[in-house]
Amino acid sequence: MRVDSRREGPIITLDGPAGSGKSSTAKAVAKRLGFRHLDSGALYRALTLGLLRSSVVEADWESLSEQGFTNLDINLETSKNGFQVLIGGEAVDSELRTPGVTDRVSFVASLPASRQSILGLQRKAGEDGGLVADGRDMGTVVFPHAELKIYLIADLEERAMRRLRQIGQDCSDDFELARQASALNTRDQSDSQRTISPLKKASGAIELDTTGLAFEEQVQAIVDLAHRLTLL
Ligand code: DC
Repeated sequence: MRVDSRREGPIITLDGPAGSGKSSTAKAVAKRLGFRHLDSGALYRALTLGLLRSSVVEADWESLSEQGFTNLDINLETSKNGFQVLIGGEAVDSELRTPGVTDRVSFVASLPASRQSILGLQRKAGEDGGLVADGRDMGTVVFPHAELKIYLIADLEERAMRRLRQIGQDCSDDFELARQASALNTRDQSDSQRTISPLKKASGAIELDTTGLAFEEQVQAIVDLAHRLTLL
């Protein structure tokens, strides 16, 4: 990956459970600060999509080596405000969010070889600083020396409601709400109980509970923290 324009500045990490608003918040914070945004979840989704498109049968994913994952040819290309994910040189976007990928990505992300295969790529994205990176292990593993680490949390029901709104579904439907909450909970359990790079609050991270905060308020809270720490 080539980072073509140098943007000096701190690295800000946002970790947290599914549906806590990390990616949209990270993207908006990056825009406000003139930094790049790295959505690390998109890389795990790209590995999953790459596997689904490959000839490797699902039963064999678990035994793939790091080289096996590297062969999927996942890459990042710098774009105006962040990074475009590529599989075999081809840009991928909405395909990363299909149910087929979402149902399997947590498993793929739990495999040490998959994580190792994209570690260098993520670190390279932060090489020049000026980055807001979101995921599960940004502050713990990928950028342990980040200048500002945020751990975003929100009540499960609130997260389920946000997810339903995001996908354009009725969030007053109790059945759908319960189903979404259960799916998020299953993914959180898997992400926080795995042995490698589990979801947890990084040392030195500031916890921000976004339950009841409007989107702009949570963006502003992080921008304010960056100013308070005189990082900007
Ligand atoms: O943020 P997301 O829903 O797009 O993440 C997809 C999956 O990837 C999710 O199950 C957690 C996993 N993930 C991870 O293990 N580590 C990261 N840094 C980012 C995402």
